Amino acid sequence: MRAADREGAVVVVGASSGIGRATAHRLAARGRSLVLASRSGTTLEVVAAECRSIADRHGVPDLRVSVVPADVTDRASIDELLARARADHGSVAAVVTTVAVVAYGRFDVVPAEAFDRVVAVNFLGTANVARSALATFAEQRGGHVVIVGSLLGRIATPWMSTYVSSKWAVHGLARTLQIEARGMRGVHVSVISPGAVDTPVYSQAGAYGGHTGRPPPPVSRPEAVARAIVRVLDRPRRTASVGIANPVAAAGFRLLPGVYDRIVRPAMYAGGLSRGHVSPRPGNLWNPTPSGEAVHGTWGRHWLRPVGVATAGVAALVVGRRLRRAAPPTGL
Ligand SMILES: NC(=O)c1ccc[n+]([C@@H]2O[C@H](COP(=O)([O-])OP(=O)(O)OC[C@H]3O[C@@H](n4cnc5c(N)ncnc54)[C@H](OP(=O)(O)O)[C@@H]3O)[C@@H](O)[C@H]2O)c1
Repeated sequence: MRAADREGAVVVVGASSGIGRATAHRLAARGRSLVLASRSGTTLEVVAAECRSIADRHGVPDLRVSVVPADVTDRASIDELLARARADHGSVAAVVTTVAVVAYGRFDVVPAEAFDRVVAVNFLGTANVARSALATFAEQRGGHVVIVGSLLGRIATPWMSTYVSSKWAVHGLARTLQIEARGMRGVHVSVISPGAVDTPVYSQAGAYGGHTGRPPPPVSRPEAVARAIVRVLDRPRRTASVGIANPVAAAGFRLLPGVYDRIVRPAMYAGGLSRGHVSPRPGNLWNPTPSGEAVHGTWGRHWLRPVGVATAGVAALVVGRRLRRAAPPTGL
């Protein structure tokens, strides 16, 4: 038996795009056997080929990767996913869920079905994945569930009630599972909370209020979140946060709610919503849109430009003042 097989497979649910895809790549580089899941079987086959090629470059020529199309809202398909993972790989070491959808718009303009669908995918979907994973781990006597939550599971923003509500629920469920897992031998539950990340989730989102979203700065790369996930798999811990501004946003939300509420609306207009008008659309809420799936979104490091210009401007001002002070007085 190969070392990777003895370790058991890692199931990545949401592997076709963004953080899940970056995580699959990182695990492939380590030679970990993988089971890739999401709704889009065609994209998953592409990701499987990427993983094999990455593993090959890292000296693992025959990486074992299974592709299992599954919808997290369909309990039976998630049970089937875990059963397939065990059948194909012998055991499941970990299940990482990175599934999410978003519908933008003020609460009263988002259709009830869209609201319900986001909650069903993000929250009930996470519950379905966790339930099947924990049942598998109870039989195996061990395993690790990693749930990707969000900074928005700890704070709130306008025009994202669908996502914020679902992520608060995800964090509540995850904390409960962590407490319950203390009574289960060898079972760990971790939650990762990223701030804004440059992935396709914003362009894939449903939009009902005239705007879709974009990641407000500071924006992390999906690879940074993938690194945090793999670190947590190596050394289980309850939580990990990715994003330098997360502690400030969370503290502001909790400790200064009046100030927070005043700032968050203009901040969302300035950095969290698309500039152009978007006609009402469901995005990928009900059906996958494989053409939009990739590791990265389209925002890259553009947000650093205004930060760079502002920093350079402040630096020029400071240097200018110092020079003026240091210069000998002219004329008397
Ligand atoms: N990007 C950010 O700024 C950010 C910030 C904080 C937290 N997060 C969290 O990070 C995680 C990953 O997000 P991301 O930005 O990487 O998004 P993404 O690129 O849109 O990826 C989302 C994944 O979820 C899958 N998915 C959607 N609906 C599904 C369903 N019903 N059943 C199974 N799979 C489904 C998608 O594949 P299919 O469409 O093929 O099913 C895709 O693989 C999410 O939990 C998100 O909340 C993201």
